[in-house]
Amino acid sequence: MKRRLLCVLVTVCLLMFSLQVVVLAADAPAKLPNVVILATGGTIAGSGATTTTTVGYTAATMPVDNLINGVPELKNVANVTGEQISQIASENMTNKVWLKLAKRVSELLASDNVDGIVITHGTDTIEETAYFLNLVVKSDKPVVVVGAMRPPTAMSADGAMNLYNSVILAGSKEAVGKGVLVCMNDVINGARDVTKTNTALLDTFRAPELGYLGYMQDSKPHFYKESTRRHTTNSEFDVTNMTELPRVDIVYGYENNTRVGLDAFVAAGAKGIVHAGVGDGSLFTEVKEGLIDAQKKGVVIVRSSRVGNGIIARNGEANDDQLHFVASDTLNAQKARILLMLALTKTSDPTEIQRMFWEY
Ligand code: SIN
Repeated sequence: MKRRLLCVLVTVCLLMFSLQVVVLAADAPAKLPNVVILATGGTIAGSGATTTTTVGYTAATMPVDNLINGVPELKNVANVTGEQISQIASENMTNKVWLKLAKRVSELLASDNVDGIVITHGTDTIEETAYFLNLVVKSDKPVVVVGAMRPPTAMSADGAMNLYNSVILAGSKEAVGKGVLVCMNDVINGARDVTKTNTALLDTFRAPELGYLGYMQDSKPHFYKESTRRHTTNSEFDVTNMTELPRVDIVYGYENNTRVGLDAFVAAGAKGIVHAGVGDGSLFTEVKEGLIDAQKKGVVIVRSSRVGNGIIARNGEANDDQLHFVASDTLNAQKARILLMLALTKTSDPTEIQRMFWEY
């Protein structure tokens, strides 16, 4: 009888213990993702003289820890740490900073302790940095580049919400394998197609005719599409051991043009030229002659357009096959320049480089 009572007692105790474990497990907060913020500067880290200063402020004054501490809500959505990569306005972005950034991103993402990266950046060249990283980062984990159109000192500053959304996105499963993303103003853009479309408005970042990948709403990412082009782990470009990139310059198309600027770039040692032509990449006759001469010297010529949308038709406005030129597909001139720099780290064969322009 005594033994039976003891048995019942032990069983009851065990039951109560397991019930407690279940309750505790149910109450335990979900494990937060580990997100590293790499800060490079820009308006998101800037400061103005007054709350109404939205022009004429100073970009890149606030260190990364202040950015993180300025958004205490980040603690609810991720374990966030920060590193300062540079402290510059993004018009001063350089290949040197890019290479440092790319190496650090790949290094961090190789660790099991890092789930995603957010890069704070000035908006003027954010699209270029995002596309460069899209082509060279060796990881499927999320990389989100974020900026702000108003400094944190301004009324209705956009940086805090942009950073909050970007950290959520970088820690999300939904963003895995999507390539490098730009997240601002509640929208998610892909690095290849995003561009700045307005000098000052908060909704400046768009992929004009190809569209957003998704939205951030209610602290969650909502994706509707993804890029069909090669990126990150599916990219053939690797800058791990590089200390510099080949020189590529952009020549702009306009009425009454001359080859003076183009010839100066070639004389300065450009290995590639992107021509931002009028319309479908059309060439002013004197500039075309300059491009032909440059190509004969071994400079790789890519025809892009200043229009901002649409495909450059190969063998359309110039006989690319005959002239050994490359058509930029839908890449704008600043993105075509990045792909050409990376292409030139592999080859200077225009046929092979054209293949890359169709694939990336
Ligand atoms: C910059 O690009 O660093 C300045 C402008 C901005 O961040 O909006």
